[in-house]
Amino acid sequence: MVPSRSTLSVSSSTSTSEPLAARLAGIEPFRVMEILAAARGLQAQGRDIIHLEVGEPDFPTPEPIVEAGMAALRAGQTHYTPALGLPELRRAIATYYADRYGVALSEGRVAVTPGASGGLLLAMAALFNPEDEVLMADPGYPCNRHFARLLGVRPRSLPVGPECRFQLTAESVAKGWTKRTRGVLVANPGNPAGTAISMEELQGILAVVQQHDGWLIVDEIYHELVYGATLPSAAGLGDRVIVISSFSKYFLMTGWRLGWMVAPDAVMPALDKLAQNLFLSPATISQHAALTALGKETRGLLDACRDELGQRRDLLVPALTQLGFHVPVTPDGAFYVYARLPERVSLDSTAFCRDLLDKAGVAITPGADFGDFQAGRHVRFAYTTDLERIQEAVERIRRYMD
Ligand SMILES: Cc1ncc(COP(=O)(O)O)c(C=O)c1O
Repeated sequence: MVPSRSTLSVSSSTSTSEPLAARLAGIEPFRVMEILAAARGLQAQGRDIIHLEVGEPDFPTPEPIVEAGMAALRAGQTHYTPALGLPELRRAIATYYADRYGVALSEGRVAVTPGASGGLLLAMAALFNPEDEVLMADPGYPCNRHFARLLGVRPRSLPVGPECRFQLTAESVAKGWTKRTRGVLVANPGNPAGTAISMEELQGILAVVQQHDGWLIVDEIYHELVYGATLPSAAGLGDRVIVISSFSKYFLMTGWRLGWMVAPDAVMPALDKLAQNLFLSPATISQHAALTALGKETRGLLDACRDELGQRRDLLVPALTQLGFHVPVTPDGAFYVYARLPERVSLDSTAFCRDLLDKAGVAITPGADFGDFQAGRHVRFAYTTDLERIQEAVERIRRYMD
């Protein structure tokens, strides 16, 4: 299909003379994608750019998973599946919760989705009415507020800083709850700070949510990327909790566009109905590959990548601190460091990121991508490139700062 003129005119900017929908005014561009484009533009001119902006692992999908995808294609697995996913994959995900977290689930509570993105959209569409409010952290994953706005739901961002480990707490949720509030969305560990919420705190948040008869959505997309500990899953926390997860990050399958959610039985028919209409089904080939991704033989390969990510964190955090960046809470996981700019940097973080890319060839993301709260003084480093390149990036930043 040839895109219409108006489709083409929706670029990163929403200012347009075309008669496009008013809701676009509430959707901001995902700036990291713009930085990526600028970085690639410089690369096309022959510059060597170190990418510390992109939120996806640099490791390729492990071979056994790729093989399973190819075998599915060759076997003619190119048709739709049920809207909530292949029954065998839903079963395998339920088994994964039993093995990994000791949480017993029926496969009927698992919905396979087009990435965690699909799950977040389904959850918000199923749970909230227009004008309802959902509480989320600022800084936080930017797409969440846009999913909400698309549905007419009001994202209400609560500022979070080092004192609460860049996460919502039972106290902030209780204080932030208004007459309109219907739910809370947290990511554990979070993006951009990579900090985890303890089970105790999560239960405290849930208690506030239950008191108001609301919903708690817990995005566990980085759950398997925690270094040195296993976080308990919120999937066992009862009938007011929806857990979102994905094959994108730990399973190294970003481009396969596959995720899942675990929801209470009572919500499943709504999710099914919405998924039938919005997506028809998650990608069939990806679902067959995911069966292998969950298998014991691939876990060793994936764990080795996680361990390497942990080493990168251990290199980057002290190196940044030495350069004068302030990392008040060591990230527990994900692959991000959210750092306050050194005092001697007078530029705001967006200008700093532009200048650093331009002069030092290092791409990082400004705080403005994740919200408003102290965004101008913060940047996110994604350690999604190898140790040697991270070391080189640190050297380049040192020279740039000098
Ligand atoms: C916290 C968080 N949730 C959800 C997503 C979406 O992931 P995907 O749709 O690739 O599963 C991302 C991607 O970066 C993320 O950081």
